[in-house]
Amino acid sequence: MLTCVAKAPAKVILIGEHWVVHGSRAIAAAVSVYARAVGRPVESGIIVSSRELGLTEDITKCRHLCNLWRSAQYIASIVSRSPWPASIRIESDIPVGAGMGSSAAVAVVFSACYALLGGVKPSVELVLRAAYEAEKVVHGNPSGIDNTVSALGGFIVYRRGEKPRRLENIELRDTRLLIIDTGVPRSTKTAVERFSKRLVELRDLGRELLSLMDRIVDRAIEALQEGSATRFGLLLDLSHGLLNSMGVSHESLEEAIHISRREGAYGAKLTGAGMGGVAIALVPRDRVARVREALTSRGYRVLETDLGVKGYSVTSIQDHP
Ligand code: MEV
Repeated sequence: MLTCVAKAPAKVILIGEHWVVHGSRAIAAAVSVYARAVGRPVESGIIVSSRELGLTEDITKCRHLCNLWRSAQYIASIVSRSPWPASIRIESDIPVGAGMGSSAAVAVVFSACYALLGGVKPSVELVLRAAYEAEKVVHGNPSGIDNTVSALGGFIVYRRGEKPRRLENIELRDTRLLIIDTGVPRSTKTAVERFSKRLVELRDLGRELLSLMDRIVDRAIEALQEGSATRFGLLLDLSHGLLNSMGVSHESLEEAIHISRREGAYGAKLTGAGMGGVAIALVPRDRVARVREALTSRGYRVLETDLGVKGYSVTSIQDHP
């Protein structure tokens, strides 16, 4: 029997969240926290089981997982066929609702396996677009950054409405990225509204900040290309300062960031929408244990990740009964 196995990474926005909504660029990267899918053919239905949601359903009935049904329909339409039956089990280690693109990574692994089981080549282009269809069901009008980073992997420079650019050969030696979950719930919509309101109130200064952010992104790209964790860390700190002054930080984010810097991080900032959620800290490898311990002793959940990992992979295994 044909079995399909797929894996896709989560993403974090390194620099440029919020500003990206208003036209400047963001840099995002794939991190080593993964969603996985294992699929096999069945006689009827498209049966998806999700370990995290604790459910199994035939997605053609479009109950909870309408997003994945949309991906399946999209893939079938590309090859002018009706959707074919399949059974796909999904597991994900990516925190949900933390701005790390968990729904996009799940859609990527589902799409890759579903295509493969139907005899369709799971090319990057196909998987990326099929996952975007799923993201539209979940998020309405998403920028597309999450499915792009999960599919392509690496470091991506992103501007709304433009083709994403992948930065090649980036290596920040002897560093780890810590992802710090504050556990504080937040609403992306509220944060985006608060930020946008301040930006408008700042009038000409708001416009200047937007172009300043574009220059910070340029400097950040240079720092990455030079492999300078010190300079990149400085720019993470600077970006956080601006986000804080735009009203989208939170006491718990400030504490986590402060602890990370105090214990030796190159730089730390909120990532994603802010007002709770998740922070990131770029940490020299020999300081990781120390930073991690200081954070966990204050009750923060910490994920230690590699930055810029490769995008989705999918393989098929032919078992002979
Ligand atoms: C949320 O993860 C990132 C924001 O920039 C919103 C967006 O880009 O759609 C705050």
